[in-house]
Amino acid sequence: MARANGGGSEIGGDRRPLCVSLGVMSLAAARVCLSRYRIRIPRLHRSLNPSHMDVVLSEPAPDKLQVLPHIQYVTAEHLAPGTVASNPLDQFRGWFKDAIESGKVDEAEAMSLSTATPNGIPSARIVLLKQVDARGFVFFTNYTSRKSQEIIANPHAALVFYWREIHKSVRVVGRVEKITREESDEYFQSRPLGSRLGAWASKQSSVIPEDAIEARLQRVSERFGENVPTPEFWGGWRVVPE
Ligand SMILES: Cc1cc2nc3c(=O)[nH]c(=O)nc-3n(C[C@H](O)[C@H](O)[C@H](O)COP(=O)(O)O)c2cc1C
Repeated sequence: MARANGGGSEIGGDRRPLCVSLGVMSLAAARVCLSRYRIRIPRLHRSLNPSHMDVVLSEPAPDKLQVLPHIQYVTAEHLAPGTVASNPLDQFRGWFKDAIESGKVDEAEAMSLSTATPNGIPSARIVLLKQVDARGFVFFTNYTSRKSQEIIANPHAALVFYWREIHKSVRVVGRVEKITREESDEYFQSRPLGSRLGAWASKQSSVIPEDAIEARLQRVSERFGENVPTPEFWGGWRVVPE
């Protein structure tokens, strides 16, 4: 058994499930459990703070990994018609700023992007939000990648942001449109040199040997120097909420 996220404590033996949900047990029951099984709980766990989530894994069989019930977080905040912005985009902006300004959320701009083939086979991956305005949510990628091919064939997508540390998640569903060449160009040219060369050197959604990437990087670096043009096969997509 292992605890992820909380760090440090390990519980062994078959009696594991008895003690894993200390945070939702009564304090007395938890104490009995702790002493009976001689479990050492790091400081964070010892506080039995119900807002601390902690993932407890069990491996009851060699081929099975399962996540046991763990502490549910509670938050004083709740959504109510009076506190939600009438425009969902304003609500998004507010929460996005909260996530950044909290200083607690790493990569608040990371979002899951789901696409699907025309016959409905879905796929998802993480991409980074780069721009958002009344027109929609923009990310950048290689236009030959699987996600782009799916978008070309079926221009709909869903995004999910999850900001665990501030207890928020947002889903955006909409159609997808290509941004203009000028917009892609403007963003591409703002990227660091290594990223610009990387866009030329890496073929997304395909397997390339490590040394082949190095060799390609070397070639594009010799070809372009510091003036790296925006590749035709690279640019932005905008998810327009519907
Ligand atoms: C934190 C994070 C951010 C990422 N951001 C991007 C991104 O902005 N654009 C992109 O094309 N891929 C990004 N990736 C890589 C994608 O998740 C994915 O592996 C790659 O784009 C190929 O996806 P596809 O084969 O489904 O097209 C990111 C991955 C991670 C882990």
